[in-house]
Amino acid sequence: MKKRVFSGIQPTGTIHIGNYLAAIRRWAITQAEHESIFCIVDLHAITVPQEPKLLKAKNLEMAGMLLAAGIDPEVSVIFVQSRVSAHAELAWILNCIIPMGWMLRMIQFKEKSQRHKEQASTGLFDYPALMAADILLYRTGLVPVGEDQRQHVELARDVAERFNSRYGPTFELPEAVIPEVGSRIMGLKDPTKKMSKTGDDKDNVLGVLDPPDQIRAKIMKAVTDPLREIRFDPERPGIHNLLVIYELFSAEGRQAIEQRFAGKGYAQFKAELAEMVIEGLRPLQARFCELMKDQGYIGRLLEEGADRIRPVAEGTLNTVKEKVGLGLPVLRGS
Ligand code: AMP
Ligand code: TRP
Repeated sequence: MKKRVFSGIQPTGTIHIGNYLAAIRRWAITQAEHESIFCIVDLHAITVPQEPKLLKAKNLEMAGMLLAAGIDPEVSVIFVQSRVSAHAELAWILNCIIPMGWMLRMIQFKEKSQRHKEQASTGLFDYPALMAADILLYRTGLVPVGEDQRQHVELARDVAERFNSRYGPTFELPEAVIPEVGSRIMGLKDPTKKMSKTGDDKDNVLGVLDPPDQIRAKIMKAVTDPLREIRFDPERPGIHNLLVIYELFSAEGRQAIEQRFAGKGYAQFKAELAEMVIEGLRPLQARFCELMKDQGYIGRLLEEGADRIRPVAEGTLNTVKEKVGLGLPVLRGS
């Protein structure tokens, strides 16, 4: 049976190869297998402070990136989250059935709120409820994401189960689809932490739009180890991460890669990796530049996407409101 696929990406920071390899590229590859919906989640973005003018531009830029990566608007729906108000509305209703205890367990909140301390917003805490609303509104079966989002998708599933058992069958139970390889691309400078869109050290993040010289420089500076042996070994996070990136760009098997670099030095491996990444990203970068010349086209596509999908979201929201008992009863008399 065909299931609906839904995933989202925040229109913030630098779109990096972790986003690309674990999410965007896979969305494009599998889009025709199911009915696919991809959402640029600007309401999630404002859980931390954003520059208003920049945020709108970022929505457009992210859409350009999704299109450049091969998401076909004839096949998939792309839209901006805030253009379908049912997301925020369902999030509120879900808030009222999610126990605080579930939310307090969310690792991403613990990590992000550490960075923002007392300034962390209530929205940042509530982030997973909005994400659950995104997913459940479309009766989504499959949610393709990176490893860091697994816990949030599980929460959405738990919320769906809780709602269904309290109010009767309403929501499909969603499942996270996480790639076996590359579900967590690590930082180049600190390979013990995931590569992240928003970070201070630019050399830690390999941007999808980085020009060739920058890609070369960043990869050459990437942290490895003194062992000098090029082998897939998760215990050696730096070289392992670079090998995983090589694997995903080359589509070669692990053994073949290890053989290719047997007895060779890190410098040579890094140089070849850099060329592989540069060539891998070249067509995407070219398409992105081309697409961004016609922002009106991208804007229209996003609005059409929202218009196509809004009735589905509103249908679910109305069912939910009925079940919860919101609004007026059927009235008698004039
Ligand atoms: P975000 O950058 O938080 O908007 O994430 C967009 C998508 O990229 C989500 O599916 C994330 O799970 C995925 N993602 C983010 N960072 C990484 C990373 N370092 N490695 C793999 N996937 C990632
Ligand atoms: N929280 C996700 C991230 O940062 C983005 C997101 C928002 C999402 N809503 C979603 C992903 C719904 C999948 C499904 O990566």
